Amino acid sequence: MARKEAKTQARKPLRIAVIPGDGTGPEVVREGLKALRAAAEVSKFTYETAEFDCSGARYLARGGDAAKPGIPVVTDEEIAALKTFDAIYLGAVGDPNVAPGILEKGLLLRLRFELDQYINLRPVKLYPNVPCPLAGKGPEDIDFVVVRENTEGIYTGMGGVQYPGTPQEVSTRVNCTTRFGAERCIRYAFELCRRRASPKKMLTLVHKTNVLTFAGGTWFRAFHEVGEEYPDIKKDYNHVDACCMWFVKNPEYYDVIVTDNIFGDIITDLAAIIQGGLGVAAGGNINPSGLSMFEPMGGSAPKYTGLGVINPIAAIAAMAMLLKETGVNRGDKKLVNAGSRVERAVIATTPRMKSQAAGKMGFSTTEVGDLVAQAVKDDA
Ligand code: IPM
Ligand code: MN
Repeated sequence: MARKEAKTQARKPLRIAVIPGDGTGPEVVREGLKALRAAAEVSKFTYETAEFDCSGARYLARGGDAAKPGIPVVTDEEIAALKTFDAIYLGAVGDPNVAPGILEKGLLLRLRFELDQYINLRPVKLYPNVPCPLAGKGPEDIDFVVVRENTEGIYTGMGGVQYPGTPQEVSTRVNCTTRFGAERCIRYAFELCRRRASPKKMLTLVHKTNVLTFAGGTWFRAFHEVGEEYPDIKKDYNHVDACCMWFVKNPEYYDVIVTDNIFGDIITDLAAIIQGGLGVAAGGNINPSGLSMFEPMGGSAPKYTGLGVINPIAAIAAMAMLLKETGVNRGDKKLVNAGSRVERAVIATTPRMKSQAAGKMGFSTTEVGDLVAQAVKDDA
């Protein structure tokens, strides 16, 4: 094929599976899709979306009951269908009428495991004019990334409970840590640190090697052995408890952090608060060579459902991540640029909002979405 022809040949449309989910999920997803539409127009790419109703409401309507397992939250057919898409865009999981753990395991954890989304990527960035609860810290101080291992540790479900409900009750939960799992996560983090624009070029391993000597040892050895391939990156280590302290005291210290599944779960909620709260924090469940899923970090927020007051910024930021990461994965610069454009539109919008808290934004959910979509177009 002639070079010119190859260049002008249209790429296949980007195919996005959308799972609006529960509570305020559908409301914020709608605004993320609005930003997508604007970005596609300006950046000139084509896309298709298909909606999957894997909500808690559907699970209940089908007779789902924790005491009677058998009703799946996501069906095998849906998993097979999801696998044909380029990315998944998730609103929220969580329904107050479903027992804890069912939707989390049945949807989020199942997809993480079955799609081997072994990275949980959490950019922690304080956008302009977003109030930060840390005294004296501004956007120049809070700009780091947490790379959380997403398929191992205490999330695998190994362990069990014996004699439940009796005085003899015993429960165990295995911290399943493999060299393979730690190594691939660490390697991803080193690569990310290398391509990130920050001049710090430092990767911090976060664990608890003073107590979890077995799993910690595996992480520590993998970190330093893989690290030999990255002489340009400074290697740093924090215990997880100390890391929580530094997040509050010296967030400007960090560049990229790599950590185990549960430690990552905990520190990224702390990180979300210092970047302005759950209204703005977005994350990605990433399979670097497969299908990834992007979501706002806030839950389904049942008490705000249907009121038009929830902040869609996190969901829009998740869409920006979806475009960027899918672009990197497919080697498609247009998508990467579209993602950056949506992020810039978010940065242009947050200063216009009164607050990032639900109900206090000075705008409705839809209005914030309109402002971002307009900013995407103005950025052209
Ligand atoms: C997250 C969430 C999940 C987790 C829950 C909902 C299973 O807290 O994505 O951080 O613990 O990973
Ligand atoms: Mn969490």
